[in-house]
Amino acid sequence: MARAVDGLLEATVVGSFSRAGYLVRRAAGGWGDPPRVDGKVFVVTGASSGIGRAIAVALGRLGAEVWALGRDAARTGAVADAIGGGGARARASVLDVTDGSSVDTFVERFASAHDELDGVVHAAGALLRDHAVSRDGIEMTVATHVLGPFRLTWQLAPLLHRAATPTIVTVSSGGMYTERFDLARLEVSSEHYDGVRAYARAKRAQVVLAGEWARRWTPWNVASYAMHPGWVATPGLSAGLPSFAHLGPLLRRPEEGADTAVWLAAGGARALAVSGGDGTPSVKAGFWHDRRRRGEHYLPWTRPRDGSEEQGHLLWDWCTVRTGMGLDMGWDA
Ligand SMILES: NC(=O)c1ccc[n+]([C@@H]2O[C@H](COP(=O)([O-])OP(=O)(O)OC[C@H]3O[C@@H](n4cnc5c(N)ncnc54)[C@H](OP(=O)(O)O)[C@@H]3O)[C@@H](O)[C@H]2O)c1
Repeated sequence: MARAVDGLLEATVVGSFSRAGYLVRRAAGGWGDPPRVDGKVFVVTGASSGIGRAIAVALGRLGAEVWALGRDAARTGAVADAIGGGGARARASVLDVTDGSSVDTFVERFASAHDELDGVVHAAGALLRDHAVSRDGIEMTVATHVLGPFRLTWQLAPLLHRAATPTIVTVSSGGMYTERFDLARLEVSSEHYDGVRAYARAKRAQVVLAGEWARRWTPWNVASYAMHPGWVATPGLSAGLPSFAHLGPLLRRPEEGADTAVWLAAGGARALAVSGGDGTPSVKAGFWHDRRRRGEHYLPWTRPRDGSEEQGHLLWDWCTVRTGMGLDMGWDA
């Protein structure tokens, strides 16, 4: 029954992405709370607002110690206080994912407190209308969604690899369905910049990178998922896609957009294998929405010409070159 309802919703964008999709799927699937994560430690980027904030708060409620990251100290601190007020351990840290030195400073701080990390959630993101370049000389959309998360995850990898069930969750977007992965068109120059396209391409690249983390780090039992939250009422949506703000009641609340990311981070998909679940073929990878693994391509021209593994290799090599990571880490990536 739940599968049939899900299939009907999946057939239309509005049915699937809107609040109605979330509410109907939750009711039909009889969703319960995600698994408890007492004592586990999670790092959440983009925790100062919207979906990332909701993810950080929810992981705290499930018993995790949460490191909430954002660019604004006061807003990030307020989120950590809210989590702490609920009884969970929480730390706030200022981090601009587009600034390599900011990432490095955070990792040093984290590593001085912990030698193991259970999960990273990459929720930081924005649809940037105007072309801009980061302090490190990288186009900002790619720096925010691809190279920043790559650098952060790369540096945290030794700690992740020590955890029993390390999990990476990347908050991508349904907008990625409109673009194919093409490394040559990923980092766009100012003359050709179109914010919506640049965003969709970066969100597609996030899905490729998430798959590559899962593939490369299988020996460490790493699960790496990408997901899309649907259409969610957040400051980021109002700023990036103001026309969507008019969808009003069709928009999900931040906690609803966050639900699948929280469920994945807490091990919901891993648990499917144990219970027999819904027959999902791989539970440590994939692109997810509303607690179910989804296809990565709806439009035929977005399918990879050389296979998805080749795409992953290409993107990985490019990320190591553009970030200067990947050399001399003392472990085999
Ligand atoms: N809302 C939707 O309908 C929707 C749909 C699909 C995907 N998404 C994705 O969901 C994620 C969260 O977005 P949202 O809608 O919740 O927007 P939001 O309320 O604007 O939150 C975005 C978060 O990302 C952080 N961020 C942006 N650039 C950053 C950078 N350079 N370094 C560190 N943090 C940075 C922001 O930090 P500051 O507080 O410092 O600005 C903020 O915490 C994004 O990845 C977005 O692409 C959203």
